[in-house]
Amino acid sequence: MMFPNKRMRRLRRKETTRNLVKETNLSKDDLIYPIFVEKREDTLDIPTMEGIKRFPVEGAVKEAKKVKELGIPAIILFGVPEEKDKKGSFAWKKKGVIQESVRKIKEEVPSLTVITDVCLCEYTSHGHCGVIKNKDVENDETLELLKKISRSHAEAGADIVAPSGMMDGMVKAIREVLDDNSFQDIGIISYSAKYHSNFYGPFRDAAESSPDFGDRRTYQMNPSQRREAYIENQLDVEEGADMLMVKPAMPYLDIIRDTKNRFNLPIAAYQVSGEYSMIKNAIDQNLIPEEAVLESLISIKRAGADMILTYFAKEVAKNEF
Ligand code: PBG
Repeated sequence: MMFPNKRMRRLRRKETTRNLVKETNLSKDDLIYPIFVEKREDTLDIPTMEGIKRFPVEGAVKEAKKVKELGIPAIILFGVPEEKDKKGSFAWKKKGVIQESVRKIKEEVPSLTVITDVCLCEYTSHGHCGVIKNKDVENDETLELLKKISRSHAEAGADIVAPSGMMDGMVKAIREVLDDNSFQDIGIISYSAKYHSNFYGPFRDAAESSPDFGDRRTYQMNPSQRREAYIENQLDVEEGADMLMVKPAMPYLDIIRDTKNRFNLPIAAYQVSGEYSMIKNAIDQNLIPEEAVLESLISIKRAGADMILTYFAKEVAKNEF
């Protein structure tokens, strides 16, 4: 059937009808809110990410409570340590910033799902995501450190750990150390398809995690790669990941869709700092309306994400949608 019998506009005439035929829904249940935490007295603004802050531990606990009250089910924590060294040893300290934050948040807001980012770049003096040998990150030695970090996060009470360093074998190594230490119920969201992206810039300001030489091209994926994401995802499924992640989100919607079509695990997408700041600045300058935020999140869900890590989570959850 075609025009004039078939008219697509019939179902667009009223809002209620449009809602009935809606194919993609966004819900608070889909959102994960990132929180930056560090051991200091005061709360810091992050100049490149308007509205996002670096909290002291107590502040992060309060923020976690607010997030829970807004109906958001989960947070992911990023830490800025008191000191950085070559190996990033503050990442696995029992009294490290993440370990203390997790412990306190779990005491005060036990029903919130607490995810911890497992990576070394915030903790190393050189800013790379692992141990450096011959000017590059040494994969297998780094795995040993990721195991220590994951174990310390699990001991503090994290529900899920999220390795983000794109080291080969990281999921397997972490699954083993968790299982060997009776943490078989702690889940792993793997940053399985993480690209070497320009959109991480504001995050690196926020977490003080820019590499001081070279870049992350030897471990993060080249933006040109689509089939390679399939291999990365497949390996992490085999290594025991509970969920997969594509990152960034908006410039990689095709990868989100491929991942959805090919794998049955839940899929997270990370709308990263650069995506956030770009939209936020455009709204501030009246270039686009605030509703663009919802559109960006719907596009990520439509592509196939089951959940979205987004700095917009709180402001979105405050509105009805
Ligand atoms: C790496 C890590 C990065 C982000 C989170 N964890 C990126 C990187 O510096 O390579 C980026 C998140 C964002 O931009 O919002 N540990």
